[in-house]
Amino acid sequence: MYYPDDVVEQVRLANDIVSVIGEYVTLKKKGTRYFGLCPFHNEKTPSFSVDPASQMYYCFGCSKGGTVFTFLMEYENMTYPEAIKALAERAGIVLPEQTYSQKEKEARDRKSRMLEMNREAAVYYYNNLRTSKGAQALEYLKNRGLSMETIRHFGLGYAGKYSDHLYQHLKEKGFDPVMMKDAGLIDISEKNGVNDRFWNRVMFPIMDQGSRVIGFGGRVMGSGEPKYLNSPQTYVFDKSRNLYGLFAAKKSRKPYFLLCEGYMDVISLHQAGFTHAVASLGTALTAEHAKLLRRFVKQVLITYDSDGAGVGAAIRAISILRDADIRTRVVRLAPYKDPDELIKQAGSEEYQKRIDTAEDGFLFVIATEAGKYDLQTPEGKIDFCHAAARLLNDLSEEVERRSYREEIARRYGLTNEELEQVRIKEASAPGFKPRQVQPKRTSTVRKAQRTSERAQQTLVAWMADHDKVIEAVKPFISPDDFPDSMCSRLCRLLYEQHSTGTTDPAAVIDRFEDQDEQEKAAAVLHTDLSDIRSARSPEKALKELVCQVIIDRLKGQPLNQALEGRKRAETLKTTNITL
Ligand code: UTP
Ligand code: MN
Repeated sequence: MYYPDDVVEQVRLANDIVSVIGEYVTLKKKGTRYFGLCPFHNEKTPSFSVDPASQMYYCFGCSKGGTVFTFLMEYENMTYPEAIKALAERAGIVLPEQTYSQKEKEARDRKSRMLEMNREAAVYYYNNLRTSKGAQALEYLKNRGLSMETIRHFGLGYAGKYSDHLYQHLKEKGFDPVMMKDAGLIDISEKNGVNDRFWNRVMFPIMDQGSRVIGFGGRVMGSGEPKYLNSPQTYVFDKSRNLYGLFAAKKSRKPYFLLCEGYMDVISLHQAGFTHAVASLGTALTAEHAKLLRRFVKQVLITYDSDGAGVGAAIRAISILRDADIRTRVVRLAPYKDPDELIKQAGSEEYQKRIDTAEDGFLFVIATEAGKYDLQTPEGKIDFCHAAARLLNDLSEEVERRSYREEIARRYGLTNEELEQVRIKEASAPGFKPRQVQPKRTSTVRKAQRTSERAQQTLVAWMADHDKVIEAVKPFISPDDFPDSMCSRLCRLLYEQHSTGTTDPAAVIDRFEDQDEQEKAAAVLHTDLSDIRSARSPEKALKELVCQVIIDRLKGQPLNQALEGRKRAETLKTTNITL
């Protein structure tokens, strides 16, 4: 914790969420809550709610939510301690010195020190670009069509031709050479001594969503290998968890993002007004990337290179994004190589047209598959039918499978019945391993996981909403009974709070340090309880929920624990509870 819990609590109580958010968003009272247009995504009808009772906000459109602190972190790009400070000031509260444990302090210091150093390096490169020594690099960027404003916006710079100027500069500023090496800014060897790692390259600082410099990419001007040299993995830079351009895209308030491959694609697109472009920087898109994206948008338009590699990467990305519950469409760029080239040669209107006609991700996968067969021959048609059937089996929902099946049948001259017959055959073939993902099984498992998660979330949200629920379930279910770690932590915190007084959801959220986690916690506590509220017997519904959570947890547990859990569930069923 940065500040003692009671201080955070005091600051929060002194800043009513309705009045704080009211300074940014026009709120209207509706029932017990206030509603307004969500400041985090673009919308025409208000789905952003602020609840004075729980002191939390939540958007039903983009599922962002949290406390006064998370609001400032999200809206003003503040860190957690900054948000606490700002609100303390607003309420005239004097904060004590920050408290850290020794280990926390070291890790935090190390991280923030490296971030500081990266920022200093970025400033150094940035200034370099504007000296006579950087003239050629500036010329290169201008030749690539970038305006001075764009160069500034993305903080582009130049690493000069001296072997150790950055090293000297950072040393002068008091940074530790070991940290410079860890950050991948210098190399140290016995033979060559100390050398800057980036040499005579145009520099692209990589920023996280809070605009902090976490790493660099350096491009050779002209030809040379490697074309881009990138920072290694460090404790502030994880390629698989960061997206280039997100710091700007998150402010675009668009309902979807454009996903591209490279630095220059993002920069060109932003310059052309498509400020919702991000890139995974040459690495394949990961599940972590997808999760990060899902925090901002429900839809992604893939705008990868038009070559074979780009198509392959798009197909993989579509499935990863689908797993994260993100809809995809694919922007066709041919005959242009990448978005950068298309914008430059055909203009932004043409790009907008391509966006408007972007194809549904799943149908893109099918079309790519269809391209592998000669559909004029019976053989080709049969093979394609089987391939399409296997892909259909990747889809987890019946309505998806049916809609796509009908569309595929229509497009490729098959009948609905034929395709369905083959699909069932494929799904039940013994030992059959589909080409990409294991369909059927995975999707049923996933569905089961979803229901289990839902039950846990509903139970936790209900506990936070109603003290009586905690009293009723506490003897039967412990925090460890929740398979989901977030729900488990929330349950523990709610129990803790309950035993010391009354429960306060906003205070629970403040117990999480990480903004990511605060948002996740807020989302759980905002689980829709309307079904529960309208249940004919809430007591029965509650018992069922608790039993489901306990039983879900038993799967894969040692026998004695499983038996114990089952016994508890049985006892609960025959116990009278009142709400
Ligand atoms: P591309 O080769 O498509 O580069 O690689 P690009 O973005 O079109 O770059 P320009 O227009 O030639 O300058 C796509 C991305 O893959 C990563 C980079 O992130 C690049 O933007 N990459 C590529 C590397 O990291 N290293 C390389 O050597 C090449
Ligand atoms: Mn490219």
